Amino acid sequence: LDNGLALKPTMGWLHWERFMCNTDCYKDPNNCISERLYMQMADVMVKEGWKEAGYEYVCIDDCWPSHQRDAKGRLQADPKRFPGGIKKLADYVHSKGLKLGIYADIVGKTCAGYPGSLGYYETDAQTFADWDVDLLKFDGCYMDWKLLGEGYMNMSRALNKTGRSILYSCEWPLYEWPQKQPDYKAIRETCNHWRNFDDVYDSWSSIKSILDWTASHQDIIAPSAGPGGWNDPDMLVIGNFGLSHDQQEDICPRSKKLLQNTDIIAISQDPLGKQGQCTIKVDSFEVWERPLSKKRLAIAVLNTQEIGGPRGFFIRAAPGWKICEPQCNVTQILPQYKELGVQTPHTKLVVSVNPSGTTLLTVTPTSDYAGLIL
Ligand code: GLA
Repeated sequence: LDNGLALKPTMGWLHWERFMCNTDCYKDPNNCISERLYMQMADVMVKEGWKEAGYEYVCIDDCWPSHQRDAKGRLQADPKRFPGGIKKLADYVHSKGLKLGIYADIVGKTCAGYPGSLGYYETDAQTFADWDVDLLKFDGCYMDWKLLGEGYMNMSRALNKTGRSILYSCEWPLYEWPQKQPDYKAIRETCNHWRNFDDVYDSWSSIKSILDWTASHQDIIAPSAGPGGWNDPDMLVIGNFGLSHDQQEDICPRSKKLLQNTDIIAISQDPLGKQGQCTIKVDSFEVWERPLSKKRLAIAVLNTQEIGGPRGFFIRAAPGWKICEPQCNVTQILPQYKELGVQTPHTKLVVSVNPSGTTLLTVTPTSDYAGLIL
């Protein structure tokens, strides 16, 4: 969507996978969906280095509103859980130098049964703008699939009409795929990012299923990704409960270090904005490659064999390795940072990858030759 936003993939925090629809603030005040949760999160993001690392949006998901609209038909936050209201919460989040995201649904009710926006697109867009909200996640539960496109486009126009810059996060293709191949050109023109596949869960099998789906549909989805519009594989679930050290690449407090790793963030936020793709599956390894600016390349080697120990992969077998002609500098980013020095197309370099772990490298063609590459 050409609204000047999401020129790089959005970074922030979203409540759903961890806190879901926990509305019981009496029994569980620290984990319920309430203004307190987002204020605490904003505090933590500033105090513990997240903001500095580039995480910017604090996002509310489902279950925030009251079950009734107000007398003027406007959505209102649940008064017990959000006594200050969303505008005050937005002010608080902004005072920390961060941005606030909110959630709504295209049809009459949200996935969890709260009031949806059907018949109220302009009202709701204006309400969010009046509250100084910065991002809208617009869900598509329960919508007749034939009307999805129209609904997502109408809300996009309604947001635009408010005059406020509001990043627009969609789930249009996710709900359309079971019926037909989505029109990614229209989606990219309408949304800043879009979910294609199932909700992420706190498990390796969930992450694997998202990776597998992404690899098998990459020819359709990858070309539409770039500054202003991105495929959204859903949240990172690092730092929760379900993943082993190697699947996360690390664990608490090292999981924090991982999420704040500036070398990984630089790959995610690289200005070229080209989506990484699975380039080879061989011998229970998957190689994923992402072209970076300045003719650099990121290569991730995933060992999908969930039995046995670490296994070695000849890195020159990665299809993108040809950019190493005649020479390149290689840096290992994960599992540990390591300079692997100058390499050639014929290198015997072997990278070790743990079961269900990933080794991540960046490859920089040697500058003397960079002009000749590609
Ligand atoms: C859907 C979405 C999730 C989350 C829930 C909330 O399942 O895909 O990301 O927003 O609804 O109910």
